[in-house]
Amino acid sequence: LIRKRLVIGNWKMHGARPTNATLLTGLCAGVGVAHNCEMVVCAPFPYLGQVSGCLHGSGIGWGSQDISKHQQGAYTGEVSASMLSDFGCQWALVGHSERRSFHCETDQLVAEKAAAALGAGITPVVCVGETQAEQEAGLTQEVIRRQLQPVLALGAESVAKLVIAYEPVWAIGTGLTATPQQAQDVHAFIRAQLTELNVPQVRILYGGSVKASNASSLFAMSDIDGALVGGASLVAEEFLRIAAS
Ligand code: G3H
Repeated sequence: LIRKRLVIGNWKMHGARPTNATLLTGLCAGVGVAHNCEMVVCAPFPYLGQVSGCLHGSGIGWGSQDISKHQQGAYTGEVSASMLSDFGCQWALVGHSERRSFHCETDQLVAEKAAAALGAGITPVVCVGETQAEQEAGLTQEVIRRQLQPVLALGAESVAKLVIAYEPVWAIGTGLTATPQQAQDVHAFIRAQLTELNVPQVRILYGGSVKASNASSLFAMSDIDGALVGGASLVAEEFLRIAAS
């Protein structure tokens, strides 16, 4: 069974046309360093046109950081799966912890967004992860199980087509990375649920202060199939070094 390595950059709410151009040009120039690794960039909505123009034909994929659960209609401010497809997006992050905490996204909504993406042929990257308080209370597995439950309920045929990203909230943007073993333990816990559903091909990415200096030790773990990278994806050389790991 081959789970191809996958490294996704999440720009979050960073960027401007000139700096994006520099970053994207740098990625295109260096993409050759990433052997057997898929690279993807998830940009803010307004830049998807710029991103698709720069990355088209480069071998690097692109996607959004969110997606509406609705197909169309009176939903001011929402962006639908078909609109994302119009811009060539093949990927969409769903349920990032920042969406869950700042926009009150529920486990159920996240699953509906994943289903909307799948309906348009877009690969959802479903993000899960516990907060520091939950981790300290020993609730990590319980939280992950609860977050995954409505997603796994979409059924094996759907789950087979998505990607899961484990991001402990306490490690996001803090410089605190989970140790490779800590991350592996949670990945193995997620893997067991995927195995039960008979979808061993699903990739599980780790996210949370991944940098070029810690990527190799994380990627050495058997159930870590790649990374969801925030801050370190904003500098081409750094992101490329992670992909090269
Ligand atoms: O989506 C990416 C994660 O939230 C990780 O962000 O690499 O800046 O810690 P970070």
